[in-house]
Amino acid sequence: MEKPFERIYQFDLADKLESEKNLTDEEFAAVLLCDAPGFDEYLAEKARAVREKYYGKAVYMRGLIEFTNICKNNCYYCGIRRDNANTERYRLSEEQILSCCDIGYELGFRTFVLQGGEDPYYTDELIVSIVSAIKGRYPDCAVTLSIGEREKESYQKFFDAGADRYLLRHETADKSHYEMLHPAELSFDHRMQCLKDLKDIGYQVGCGMMVGSPYQTTEHLVKDLRFLQEFKPEMVGIGPFIPHHDTQYADYAAGTVEMTVRLLSIIRLLLPDVLLPATTALGTIDPRGREKGILAGANVVMPNLSPSDVRGKYLLYDNKICTGDEAAECIRCMAMRISSVGYETVVDRGDHVSFSME
Ligand code: 5AD
Ligand code: FES
Repeated sequence: MEKPFERIYQFDLADKLESEKNLTDEEFAAVLLCDAPGFDEYLAEKARAVREKYYGKAVYMRGLIEFTNICKNNCYYCGIRRDNANTERYRLSEEQILSCCDIGYELGFRTFVLQGGEDPYYTDELIVSIVSAIKGRYPDCAVTLSIGEREKESYQKFFDAGADRYLLRHETADKSHYEMLHPAELSFDHRMQCLKDLKDIGYQVGCGMMVGSPYQTTEHLVKDLRFLQEFKPEMVGIGPFIPHHDTQYADYAAGTVEMTVRLLSIIRLLLPDVLLPATTALGTIDPRGREKGILAGANVVMPNLSPSDVRGKYLLYDNKICTGDEAAECIRCMAMRISSVGYETVVDRGDHVSFSME
């Protein structure tokens, strides 16, 4: 794409980010704030090229199992926070989780992501039992946990039981911003400690932030980028903040598709081989949000494998998509969306076996 003659500065910064994989804080801010016509496409083109250099046209599918919406925490932005009396709560038994994996395995999935609220019912022993059962039945599959903050010993037990990966978003890399999003009982320092522990144990770690969360500034996003650069996660999950009607942030503005997509491109250029999901939240604020995410450099999607009767209950935010579909339908829909933008879905752990839509 032609660089417009005026506004050359931010386009040069995109070039610099691509070649040096780094910018100063001021330069990151300029990239985040740039409103030059054609800038997002310029950035996305670079991000796609980098993504294709490392991953070709592959988009990895991970099967997401939302196994409990019970949570002992009270994050101000989250629909399943403990004080939300309007949420109908559920838990899946070990058997139910295994049968989601059976369905997923039949559909070709080789990665299962177990995500839930921080639910004390799932003791370390129960998580160990679930992870061991999945790994015992499907030794060729990767198991990812996304069950929030626990102590290092617990993380170690899960790892020893066979868990391969752990997703724990940092939410924001600025401590005072973290405190605006969470009650005092949750600590930024503990969150960061958890991430460090997970990495030290040997997990492939995913972190990430919400885009456009209440009180977020450009400086906060710059700090997030700096944190990602230093922490070097294997995966970065970002999605727009979307208000949930039963939270104190019900009336706050949602994050935008434009800023989320721009950040996906920036993160792709900053961490060229990172796994970068086009998230459900992105698909929720824009009917083609996930496709736009893929075109901006994302390379992972996580279709929902949860049983249909509980899907409508795992509502972190309003208007969540894919709550009424069977796993098979959702996967089919996803595969079509990905191929509509010229990419190819793969379901394996990373060894590139094509996903068949038949
Ligand atoms: N909008 C967007 N994302 C949210 N999450 C929680 N609540 C919301 C919301 N209202 C995200 C958080 C959490 C992940 C599981 O979902 O980043 O880590
Ligand atoms: Fe879930 Fe389209 S991806 S229904």
